[in-house]
Amino acid sequence: MEFLHHLIYPTIFTRKTTRNFNNSPIPQDALDRLRAFTAEVVPIFPSERAAFEILPHKGKTMKISAYAKHDVISLINMAFMLQQMDLFIQTIGMGAQWNATVSAAQKQYQEFPYVISLVVGVSKEAPARTSAAQFIRKQASEISNKPELPFIGAVRLAPSSRNRQLWYLACGEKSIDFYCRKGGFISNTILKNLNWLDMGIAVCHAVLALQQDGHTPNAVIKHDAPDKEGYSYCVSLD
Ligand SMILES: Cc1cc2nc3c(=O)[nH]c(=O)nc-3n(C[C@H](O)[C@H](O)[C@H](O)COP(=O)(O)O)c2cc1C
Repeated sequence: MEFLHHLIYPTIFTRKTTRNFNNSPIPQDALDRLRAFTAEVVPIFPSERAAFEILPHKGKTMKISAYAKHDVISLINMAFMLQQMDLFIQTIGMGAQWNATVSAAQKQYQEFPYVISLVVGVSKEAPARTSAAQFIRKQASEISNKPELPFIGAVRLAPSSRNRQLWYLACGEKSIDFYCRKGGFISNTILKNLNWLDMGIAVCHAVLALQQDGHTPNAVIKHDAPDKEGYSYCVSLD
């Protein structure tokens, strides 16, 4: 896998969702940088495709609308890419919010169906956290068999829909298997999609932390991944 933008890694430890936006426009310089970043964002699977459209949204905010096929791998890949944008936006001092309730400007863009948007704008409050204690998250031991590994700390802080944190990382000698906890309401298509997006976000944080530590992880789908009761297997990093 290509290297992700090194500047966004530290933002994992300070990022937060912005819900109150200011009534001032995003500075032109920030918008130019965001457009340039969006064009260069790295996929987890080079064969997968996603499209992103930057559009005006409510008030002075903008939205990055994301489009991809609604299958597991495409959704994981798209979220892996959009999370790099979430971090980049906050790296340049703007506020960002994954938002599943924003409707599509168009049903399809570049042949792909609409999935979700990231709202972007000038935050009313400070757009960053100042300490790890401000994250409301599960313990590392609840999300992995190797909670002491540094990249688990980066995954633990990842955002997820309704902060559900459904991920579990089974770490072996040479590979990390990502599992998603099955929920009672998983048959609902929209929620199911959100689960795969959450998994793509977790993989993004893992790859950033592993690359930061000098590793060169590659994403693979294992057809012989062990079953884990109550969980669905998603993807692995080798
Ligand atoms: C896929 C996804 C969808 C989300 N949808 C919404 C949403 O519709 N409305 C909202 O206010 N927050 C939404 N969020 C933000 C989460 O609620 C938030 O990330 C989580 O509560 C953790 O808080 P934090 O991002 O401040 O760390 C979404 C997050 C993700 C990853």
